Amino acid sequence: MPAPPPDARSLLAEALAVEPCGDDGVVLRIATEVELPPLRAARFFMLRREDRLSPAIPRPFSLYRQSGRELEFLIKVTGEGTRALAACTPGTRLRAIGPLGNGWPALDGAGAPWVMLAGGIGSAPFFLGIEQALRGMDGRPPARREQVFYLYGAARRGLLYDLERFEALGVRVATCTDDGSHGRRGNVLDLLAHLQDAGEVPRAVRLLACGPERMLEAVERFARERGLACWLSLETVMGCGVGICNGCPVPTVAEGPRGAWPNAKCCVEGPVFSTDEVTLLAHA
Ligand SMILES: Cc1cc2nc3c(=O)[nH]c(=O)nc-3n(C[C@H](O)[C@H](O)[C@H](O)COP(=O)(O)OP(=O)(O)OC[C@H]3O[C@@H](n4cnc5c(N)ncnc54)[C@H](O)[C@@H]3O)c2cc1C
Ligand code: FES
Repeated sequence: MPAPPPDARSLLAEALAVEPCGDDGVVLRIATEVELPPLRAARFFMLRREDRLSPAIPRPFSLYRQSGRELEFLIKVTGEGTRALAACTPGTRLRAIGPLGNGWPALDGAGAPWVMLAGGIGSAPFFLGIEQALRGMDGRPPARREQVFYLYGAARRGLLYDLERFEALGVRVATCTDDGSHGRRGNVLDLLAHLQDAGEVPRAVRLLACGPERMLEAVERFARERGLACWLSLETVMGCGVGICNGCPVPTVAEGPRGAWPNAKCCVEGPVFSTDEVTLLAHA
């Protein structure tokens, strides 16, 4: 039975700051009671306030940035749990369960370039991902700046969260919006196809994606049709986050590397899966 990662624990934390971000988001900076070692991008924490403003069940959030005891989360306010976190003030006590999940594969410079496809708040796991790719992961050769493409799409400009910070990382950043208010009009796959047709992004790339489910389905289809390696960071609704409630099933690829069992648990076996392992197209 898959278990939570051995470094996961239940931590007390304190809010340090909440800064507005985009039309409906915040960056929540917290300090944990103990310092955690540098964590892999696309790992996540279950967060809630210790008081009654938060629902009883903590909510999952990707680690956005990390510095010593300080962790940052980029949060889109959608309901009760995110509203409570966005209303934290310096000193608010929080519970942070984590680090959970597996994180991106080693983002090395030894193969095809990486194309990172982010949709809206799906940008959260990419900030550390870009930093770690450029530094090198798991002792593998780092990616050069020209080997990393960050393609960021959203409905409108105000939902391209923290865009300037991503642009400052020094990799190629291209944007698109549904309403044309920033970058190219259309979605991230339209943008990728356009950049490939223009010769600005090679055809043979490795794809990473995080965003709304419909976007991830389209990315999976795109990757399968072209035979591209592809990893998806899934934001499946979660109950416990630690493998107990069976609330986060993801259909596995029949006869794939995960064997005959039809589902994987997103929280303890993901949230990052290769499209060799799972498929979002089973019910699409
Ligand atoms: C591994 C993982 C990492 C995540 N990382 C981030 C992150 O970095 N930043 C961020 O803002 N959000 C992230 N999410 C999504 C976040 O957990 C949800 O938005 C949050 O749980 C909503 O809680 P709520 O109480 O505010 O909303 P609720 O009242 O629970 O729900 C409000 C609305 O949001 C929808 N919703 C709830 N959960 C999700 C979900 N997982 N995906 C899509 N829609 C959902 C509900 O259907 C409902 O319509 C992540 C989810 C997972 C599983
Ligand atoms: S969220 Fe409970 S098993 Fe995954």
